[in-house]
Amino acid sequence: MPPSGIRRFFDIAATMPNIISLGIGEPDFITPLPIRQAGIASLERGETHYTSNAGMLDLREAVAAYLTDQYDVVYDPAREILITVGVSEGLYLALTAVVDPGDEVLVPEPCFVAYKPEVSFAGGVPVPIPTYAEDSFQVTAAQLREAMTPRTKALLLGYPSNPTGAVLSRERLLEIAELAREHDWVVISDELYDRLVYSVEHVCFPSLPGMWERTILLQGFSKGYAMTGWRIGYAAAPAGLLEALYKVHQYTIMSAPTTAQVAALSALRDGDDWVAEMVAAYDQRRRCIVSGLNEIGLDCFEPQGAFYAFPSIARTRMTSEEFAEGLLHEEQVAVVPGSAFGQCGEGYIRCSYATSLENIQEALHRMERFLQRHGDL
Ligand SMILES: Cc1ncc(COP(=O)(O)O)c(C=O)c1O
Repeated sequence: MPPSGIRRFFDIAATMPNIISLGIGEPDFITPLPIRQAGIASLERGETHYTSNAGMLDLREAVAAYLTDQYDVVYDPAREILITVGVSEGLYLALTAVVDPGDEVLVPEPCFVAYKPEVSFAGGVPVPIPTYAEDSFQVTAAQLREAMTPRTKALLLGYPSNPTGAVLSRERLLEIAELAREHDWVVISDELYDRLVYSVEHVCFPSLPGMWERTILLQGFSKGYAMTGWRIGYAAAPAGLLEALYKVHQYTIMSAPTTAQVAALSALRDGDDWVAEMVAAYDQRRRCIVSGLNEIGLDCFEPQGAFYAFPSIARTRMTSEEFAEGLLHEEQVAVVPGSAFGQCGEGYIRCSYATSLENIQEALHRMERFLQRHGDL
């Protein structure tokens, strides 16, 4: 299993001074103060023990209420919600629980770096489906139909997308849902960036007709609430499916960290205004980076979710690794080569705009200089 293509760059970048990083995939914001205080208060009350394996019941109730309010999907907090150590654990549980040796899992690309390795760890075979900027990086039912075989067990969707910022339209999702029903697939839907969408609707996969019964919904607090370091998320699925995830969780993790669970509860109860503020800031940065990249000659698809821009570097005739490495050494700007997210990511770079406007502007300026030396215009 190759190491993550992202980390290698950050190990290099960490040793260099005067770096501007558009590389790391996490909010630059600190967790809002009231959420941190909820965690601190929990420690002060001496809440230092395990919680129930599935997580605190009041957190599961708050998660269920959020999903109903926001997306009109109903889960029983007692049997259909499991608190996990981030979506990372949720992915591991879902794939371990669902995939038998040799099962194929359809994985639209470019995608989060962990998807394909996690399918392999579970003994499955990841089947990458390329998506393209011309098609707004949205996978189609026709592509899935072409890639499926009798061994196809599951579909792994990650929208809003890391690394492209694409959001799947309702129309596309309905076609995909039809196919999933026809072929009895389990759908693992990673919706970690659900709150970070810009003037478009995020459709929660289990809210589509006939999908609740076959979907494992993975969600978390890392991105929307700026809580990456707390390591907290959840899985929601019909009791029969969730039970299988629960077994793996019970024997590998026991329970998610107690302090983080208390903080997550506070986030769900009181965090909406903070989320709205952060989304407004990301949106401003998004507009700045997308127009800036296009202006310096790197064609950039307009992302509608998450906090990544994914411009094409085709005009430089460099590979994405060469580009990222050159930019890092010559201009001290860190970006991630698109090839880290799958073969069809070659020819692109991922720029995270979860950083200040000043940093974005300075990075654009440095990239322009780099392109003047290497852009093949
Ligand atoms: C699409 C996607 N899924 C899952 C994760 C893991 O998130 P968590 O911090 O909830 O484990 C990330 C983190 O970057 C991500 O981008």
